[in-house]
Amino acid sequence: MPKRNNSGNHGILNAEPRVHQRGREIQPYGTVTHAFHLQLAEPVRLEMTEQLNQLLADSMTLRDLYKKAHWQVAGPTFYQLHLLFDKHFSEQTELVDAIAERIQLLGGVSLAMAPDVSETTRIPRRPRGREEVPVQLSRLLDAHQIIIRDCRELARRASQIGDDGSNDLVVSQILRTNELQVWFLSEHLVNVPLVEAQGDVYKPSKSA
Ligand SMILES: [Fe+2]
Repeated sequence: MPKRNNSGNHGILNAEPRVHQRGREIQPYGTVTHAFHLQLAEPVRLEMTEQLNQLLADSMTLRDLYKKAHWQVAGPTFYQLHLLFDKHFSEQTELVDAIAERIQLLGGVSLAMAPDVSETTRIPRRPRGREEVPVQLSRLLDAHQIIIRDCRELARRASQIGDDGSNDLVVSQILRTNELQVWFLSEHLVNVPLVEAQGDVYKPSKSA
């Protein structure tokens, strides 16, 4: 009798794809592998991967919120906001990849799928329908606020427990990109006239 190989087909080679395969997980969510060469203790990597997964879930939600705004924006500022929202979407997509890969290199398991993200994120669920531009902008800013708070807490903690790489990623990439995007959004919520100036003329005081 021919010896069975791992696929159980008695060693007979054929060109049929082995479809519909299933198996056990090779690493459960919430664990870390033995990443000896990183010189970071297991409890440090466990804590960091948990916090990075929170940041990941929030960043994935914000990324998708930008695409929703890109598609659904309406009004006289349609063109510029349509482009701006997509630019921010692309930047958030890069951040999401950087966070997820940091989790994996620390020996953890990164969140990936939408149902898992929606169970984890701290950003409240938005309505499915379209909303006015000021509401879209306000909701995006609120989401950024949550992420910026996450970043500052995570960076401080990473520094305290010796994970300099996570601290650097969070401060240099995630925090600074989010701060810049907040500036670009918030300037759209300043109520200035488009055609005719309405403010009083500036007069310097005599005592100055
Ligand atoms: Fe598009």
